[in-house]
Amino acid sequence: MENCVSVMMPKGGVGKTTTVANLAAALVRQGYQVLVVDNDWQGSATVHAGYKDPEELTGQGTLADVLAGHCAAADAVRKAQEGYDLIAGNGALINIDVQLIGLGEAGIYAIRKALEPVADQYDVILIDCEPGMHVRNLGALAASHYVLAPVSADYLSLKPLRLFLQVLHNAQQRYHMPPHATGVIVTRFDARQNQALEVVEVVRRMAPAAGMTWMETIIPERAAHRKAAAAGTSVYDGLPGAEDLTELYNELARRVIAW
Ligand SMILES: Nc1ncnc2c1ncn2[C@@H]1O[C@H](COP(=O)(O)OP(=O)(O)OP(=O)(O)O)[C@@H](O)[C@H]1O
Ligand SMILES: [Mg+2]
Repeated sequence: MENCVSVMMPKGGVGKTTTVANLAAALVRQGYQVLVVDNDWQGSATVHAGYKDPEELTGQGTLADVLAGHCAAADAVRKAQEGYDLIAGNGALINIDVQLIGLGEAGIYAIRKALEPVADQYDVILIDCEPGMHVRNLGALAASHYVLAPVSADYLSLKPLRLFLQVLHNAQQRYHMPPHATGVIVTRFDARQNQALEVVEVVRRMAPAAGMTWMETIIPERAAHRKAAAAGTSVYDGLPGAEDLTELYNELARRVIAW
């Protein structure tokens, strides 16, 4: 789907969900219709959207309910506090994996098939992906034209980025997926760390050689991100110390639209 962006990186805790929630809030403020799909059993994007207990949504319309065939995607759409639409994720997704693996190649295309009926209602669909690389992440790739890869500004993030690029290539070949446009952003940047500056330089140089778009946006490490997550909102929620962050996410949103 041409309007679908998977936010994906096999390494945990690099800012995937933080990017999804704040980018979605930025896009809504720029007038776009946005759907966030929480494709993570941890349900973090669902919490960011204002639903404190994703587990209590089971059976009331979640991504797991959709993939289990219990409801259509249109019936699982709910509103996030920040105004974007959400298909919630929760622990029930782990059981779905067993089912999807049993379907073979059709399991890889289940997310795409589920989202296609609602796709043209949105300017942008953002799929928040789990760490690791398993059937639902392959499913997100099969549904997406774009992959946005957040890399946290520490040395240990470089190896996962290189591995991820190989996996993307292999998945495209094995499942005959069209090549994705892949973009990279640096997250959790702390200018006091020399290592962080080095990582930015390595990623900036590596991106074009690896066929990735360097999205230029560098998101700093800032407590406002955690406060917004706990409040189920975003950095646009008037939190002290978040003013310049809103400008960064506005800029990222403009780049994603122009991509
Ligand atoms: N730029 C940032 N500044 C400060 N804290 C951040 C930043 N980005 C993320 N965090 C915090 O770090 C933790 C992990 O971030 P997040 O959940 O976005 O990562 P993730 O890549 O989605 O993790 P997972 O792989 O588990 O899904 C969260 O508590 C989040 O609030
Ligand atoms: Mg996450």
